[in-house]
Amino acid sequence: MVGRAVDFDALSGNYDSLRGRSKERLLPWVASVAEYADIRSSDKVIDIGCGTGRYTELFSGFCGTVVGIDASQGMIRQASNSRRQGVDYLISDALSMPFSQCSFDCAVMFMAVHLFTPEQRRLLFECVSGILKGGGRFVILTESHARMRRSLWRHFPGLLDIDLHRFPDLATLAGELKEAGFVTGRRFVRNDLGEVPTKNYLARVEGKMLSTFSLMTEEEFREGFDAFSGRICELYPETVPDYQEFVLVRGTRKV
Ligand SMILES: C[S@@+](CC[C@H](N)C(=O)[O-])C[C@H]1O[C@@H](n2cnc3c(N)ncnc32)[C@H](O)[C@@H]1O
Repeated sequence: MVGRAVDFDALSGNYDSLRGRSKERLLPWVASVAEYADIRSSDKVIDIGCGTGRYTELFSGFCGTVVGIDASQGMIRQASNSRRQGVDYLISDALSMPFSQCSFDCAVMFMAVHLFTPEQRRLLFECVSGILKGGGRFVILTESHARMRRSLWRHFPGLLDIDLHRFPDLATLAGELKEAGFVTGRRFVRNDLGEVPTKNYLARVEGKMLSTFSLMTEEEFREGFDAFSGRICELYPETVPDYQEFVLVRGTRKV
């Protein structure tokens, strides 16, 4: 796994405080994914690579039951702290999930597909196809290369190179899903959340709010942060626009 160097157990303690767990920020994404996945109120959903359950728990408002699985014990420990009715969590590698064939109506994956190598994605998509019912939907929330090239992160030296390498491009992802028996589609979504004070934004960056930073040496991070914060202060001396853009890739399992 490309992401082996990212130690999610170590990141789990302050994962939510750096990335945010507010309903206001996360619900629009869950609603977009639920809508694109045609989730119905009786559906059984699996959230693969659920992390601290930030999105998983909000799904319970859209479906019958939801199971969040994650390979990291630390992440699942955090998730279990705020477990709601209709939500279950399980420590499991996504490549060897302990579910029978045709167990779920829908599978979702938020910001985790880039942690798998191409070979692992092939196996992952086969596993997901197996546990979904015929006509089941699989929605992956990820980043497009085009968006990465125009995001604020492009000002952080070295970051774009790392992420362009680990995030699969959209054509590749669609091709891999088709090979695993899915009919594919995609949708771009953007949420604007106003402005945040520049100093608060930079404090979160300095706290390493992206897992990509754990793939840099401390020296690379410090040098990059100095260059980045200088550029951001020049561009946005008072406030930084607060927005998120993702792409949803959908695979529908053939009946
Ligand atoms: C960037 S985090 C995203 C977490 C959550 N989906 C969110 O957006 O808040 C990626 C998660 O994928 C999990 N992960 C990575 N490889 C995995 C694997 N092979 N099986 C299950 N989970 C995995 C990590 O432990 C981590 O919690």
